Amino acid sequence: MEFERAASVAPAPLVDPFGRTIQYLRVSVTDRCDFRCVYCMAEDMTFLPKQDLLTLEELDRLCSAFVAKGVRKLRLTGGEPLVRRGIMTLVESLARHLATGALEELTLTTNGSQLTRFADALAACGVRRINVSLDTLDPDKFRAVTRWGDLSKVLAGIDAAQQAGLAVKINAVALKGVNEDEIAPMLEWAHGRGMDFTLIEVMPLGDVGEGRLDQYLPLSLVRARLAERYTLTEIDHRTGGPARYMRVEETGGRLGFITPMTHNFCESCNRVRLTCTGTLYMCLGQEDAADLRTPLRASEGNEALYAAIDAAIARKPKGHDFIIDRRHQRPAVARHMSVTGG
Ligand SMILES: C[S@@+](CC[C@H](N)C(=O)[O-])C[C@H]1O[C@@H](n2cnc3c(N)ncnc32)[C@H](O)[C@@H]1O
Ligand code: SF4
Repeated sequence: MEFERAASVAPAPLVDPFGRTIQYLRVSVTDRCDFRCVYCMAEDMTFLPKQDLLTLEELDRLCSAFVAKGVRKLRLTGGEPLVRRGIMTLVESLARHLATGALEELTLTTNGSQLTRFADALAACGVRRINVSLDTLDPDKFRAVTRWGDLSKVLAGIDAAQQAGLAVKINAVALKGVNEDEIAPMLEWAHGRGMDFTLIEVMPLGDVGEGRLDQYLPLSLVRARLAERYTLTEIDHRTGGPARYMRVEETGGRLGFITPMTHNFCESCNRVRLTCTGTLYMCLGQEDAADLRTPLRASEGNEALYAAIDAAIARKPKGHDFIIDRRHQRPAVARHMSVTGG
């Protein structure tokens, strides 16, 4: 009987109007960052006033509401998630859902700058894999791309993560004229260390103070160039994300392509994105959003929150429609990637 009662109050799972079950929540825990990557932020970014941020307890409650509604994978991102003060308290607390089996994976995307401090603690909480964003292995270029970053700290962070037993995937944004000639050496470096390597097309999100056409390098071109040098075999490795994977026969490693510009992967989209102010974006490339902070704060119970989440998922759009060409150099949406979380 106890069981029946629990089942009757269990919130319904999240299925959108196109029949996609939402099982993946990405949470931007802060919009701040210790880098200013040229494709992500303008140098003089204005950040949210600290009092607008959800507390770590509120973020925990919101994430846990999504877990109760069937989310199986949580990714913390940002901004830089590891610069949010007290972030490990949130990770430790969310790890309880791993222990119960409600959550399959708790992970994060990071620029790696703080990993020497946090890698062991993350592994101890049950984090198994992380994504580290790294666009170049050249210290000067690294400084130019990130404006503020120090490559040696990131490399030390990657060492620390691997030593802690975390599987590391390297994500690089393909940037015209910047890291074009480094893609093959980076791939060899990553695979040589047992790390997957994924390339991302630059997306027109937010004004970054320079033209997107100058940055945009289609991955179809990169792939054709790599295929002249390597044997690329399609594999059906899936991580629940938008990457399509190939095996590079010469290195034995995996190479992923995330191609929001040249290929639309929206049909299998299983994710939504939560900002650090409690706004839910149902699509990275669309403006529509739902305010979850108000229902969260309105009562201690979760009924209003569940209803707001259901209403938001019922509006999840079919997909995005990014274009970068001579006539479309303006952002497709005004907010930066650091707001919604990459
Ligand atoms: C916004 S960052 C947040 C997490 C962390 N700071 C990091 O850099 O990994 C997440 C990912 O988004 C990518 N990114 C940022 N702006 C982008 C854009 N305009 N187009 C494509 N990828 C972008 C970054 O390269 C990074 O891999
Ligand atoms: S890509 Fe990540 S590291 Fe770079 S500025 Fe954006 S949030 Fe920061």
